[in-house]
Amino acid sequence: MSYEEPLHIVRGEGQYLFDADGRRYLDAINNIQHVGHCHPKVVEAAQRQYEKLNTNTRYLDEVIVNFAKDLASTLPDGLEVCFFTNSGSEANDLALRIMRTYTQSKETIVLDVAYHGNLSSLIEISPYKHNGPGGTGAPVFVHTIPMPDSFRGKYRGSNTGDQYAGEVQKSIENIEKMGKKVSGFIAESVMGCGGQLILPDGFLKTSHKLVNESGGLCIADEVQIGIGRMGSHYWGFETNEVVPDIVTMGKSIGNGHPVAAVVTTHEIAEVFHNGMEYFNSIGGNPVSCAVGQAVLNVVKEEELQKNANDVGKYLLDKLKHIQKNHGLIGDVRGRGLFIGVELVKDRDTLEPAAKEADQVINLMKEAGILISTDGPDHNVLKIKPPIIFTRENADELVFNLNSIFDQLS
Ligand SMILES: Cc1ncc(COP(=O)(O)O)c(C=O)c1O
Repeated sequence: MSYEEPLHIVRGEGQYLFDADGRRYLDAINNIQHVGHCHPKVVEAAQRQYEKLNTNTRYLDEVIVNFAKDLASTLPDGLEVCFFTNSGSEANDLALRIMRTYTQSKETIVLDVAYHGNLSSLIEISPYKHNGPGGTGAPVFVHTIPMPDSFRGKYRGSNTGDQYAGEVQKSIENIEKMGKKVSGFIAESVMGCGGQLILPDGFLKTSHKLVNESGGLCIADEVQIGIGRMGSHYWGFETNEVVPDIVTMGKSIGNGHPVAAVVTTHEIAEVFHNGMEYFNSIGGNPVSCAVGQAVLNVVKEEELQKNANDVGKYLLDKLKHIQKNHGLIGDVRGRGLFIGVELVKDRDTLEPAAKEADQVINLMKEAGILISTDGPDHNVLKIKPPIIFTRENADELVFNLNSIFDQLS
């Protein structure tokens, strides 16, 4: 449960949630409800398709094929074979299966503190979980590089991209020294569980090049950040100027309905097409695809990528402005409407202020605004609202945050 006193939410509308007592909360955390809670066009699309037909991908179906085509049209040329699943976890598991079949290897390079899903195969590649409470560490075929954090990580300051990419190079060399082949590399282009962490310039570009040159594939996990949230670009990987071999998406593409996808190239899909087959009883059913299609349409019709860009920049500037008055705010970072505010006890030692971060989110809840914390030390305030968030919403958020920081100091 989130918060010291859990919330009992009974209704959602747009960027607002309402509890059982009728109290309204500004939702600045639920990125899954991408185009807003209960968007009428999404609800209508689901209902209309439910009334007509809900089978699965065994049959020819325009709704499924058109959604796949529209999804592929948002991606760089070549990424055009689409597999549907029910969740981001299933999408990442399938991406691993495709990658391992193509490369005939399991040796996978991951970022420290990354989270890629709840399935056993994903706990194995998610240091956030296998190195966290209850975890039993990484299996031998998982190679973890330090989290590319230029603020408090192994390499700090500007221009750390090459240093962190050097860690990828070291992993490749280690794999090859063991007489094994690299299977691939998986990363989010802005790390969610890592604490809304923007990767240093050049890191992803160099890492992809090194991995591809070694014969491995690169997976972009867009489950948290895709579909316009970044503002400047539709997909997170585009902000890093890379073209992945496999893209996984989920959460927001269904606005809360279970639909997710893996998209790859014909060449890779052909190798995967080895007779074993991929079958999913419910993944990609016509109702899920109708919902996904409605979400894509709404993002386009309501120009929500542009909104994420405008409101995201406005919010980031305002947060940077209040940072000047509060020593507790160590770093403010973000892209579009995916923003992190990292709290530290001291700007010189950078000691994480986790207790304070927890206090802040609980006081924000009391003020009627929902945000959360994350990062390896739980000291980063996460802000990732539905991308219909307005400038007025941003004003309300920053006004309250500022008052709470005043109160704490
Ligand atoms: C980056 C990332 N990948 C994958 C997943 C797994 O998605 P799901 O919970 O829909 O299975 C998550 C969920 O939090 C995520 O943040």
